Amino acid sequence: MTLYEAELVVAQRELAADGVLALTLRHPLGEPLPVWEPGAHVDVVLGPDLERQYSLCGDPADRDAWRIAVLREPDGRGGSAHVHGQLGQGDKVRVRGPRNHFALRPAPRYRFVAGGIGITPILPMLAAAEAAGAEWTLLYGGRSRASMAFAEELARYGDRVTIAPQDETGLLDLASVLDDVPEGTLVYCCGPGALLDAVEARCPAGVLHVERFQPKEQETGDNTEFEVELAQSGRRLTVLKDVSVLDTVRAAGVEVLFSCTEGTCGTCETDVLDGTPDHRDSVLTDEERESGETMLICVSRCRGKRLVLDL
Ligand code: FES
Repeated sequence: MTLYEAELVVAQRELAADGVLALTLRHPLGEPLPVWEPGAHVDVVLGPDLERQYSLCGDPADRDAWRIAVLREPDGRGGSAHVHGQLGQGDKVRVRGPRNHFALRPAPRYRFVAGGIGITPILPMLAAAEAAGAEWTLLYGGRSRASMAFAEELARYGDRVTIAPQDETGLLDLASVLDDVPEGTLVYCCGPGALLDAVEARCPAGVLHVERFQPKEQETGDNTEFEVELAQSGRRLTVLKDVSVLDTVRAAGVEVLFSCTEGTCGTCETDVLDGTPDHRDSVLTDEERESGETMLICVSRCRGKRLVLDL
């Protein structure tokens, strides 16, 4: 699949909360941007080897502008510092996407839980749930009220939204929204890993959809060596114990898209034609893992001796 990629202009740059910048991106010639659905993210190319994923948090019906929001992370790996320090209004930035691993599935009822900057993918989901006539609530936590982006935009939803700054109300009361979830309800959650783990521990199987910004901690077996066959060329490569499939195919000169290299962004998702992947990513749902149809080749490996990939 060929993804849209273009230099877009930062048409607007404003503070959405303490430490959170909202950027509105437009095509320099006013060309319409691709259609997207709530939960989608884009890759923003900030420099050589500096690429980050940000959720689209504007209005999906607006083909003229994409909005993203970027949290300043003093201990981050450079992406947020670059956006906050160097990306000004009128600057151009290369953007690729959109891609969606967090799509809103149809349901009569939703419980949304967001922590901090995790509100970004949830924001357009609320509008979609509202438009679909679904019954929904949002529990939105953050360090302090001033650090919580888009709280004003959420005011229009009245008491369906609970804003819970930690310095006022303590840790999120997950029991209030996740215990006794009625049949047919889907839970969507985005935020820090500890919040996602806590929500995961409370939700019955099949109900929860999450998006992770950091890799999920998971138990994995020892790495073993295996063979990868690239179906498009028939080439066979050996994936050594301490080398990823991604690095192996790139070293062989095969061009593949990738970004985070830690199993969170979904960019390197590859079709599996034969063999059983050993999934180690933080993107695929249990069902997707079970089906074995695709794998994230930056982190996932093989359960047996051989994989055939559509590369
Ligand atoms: S490069 Fe991000 S999931 Fe593989």
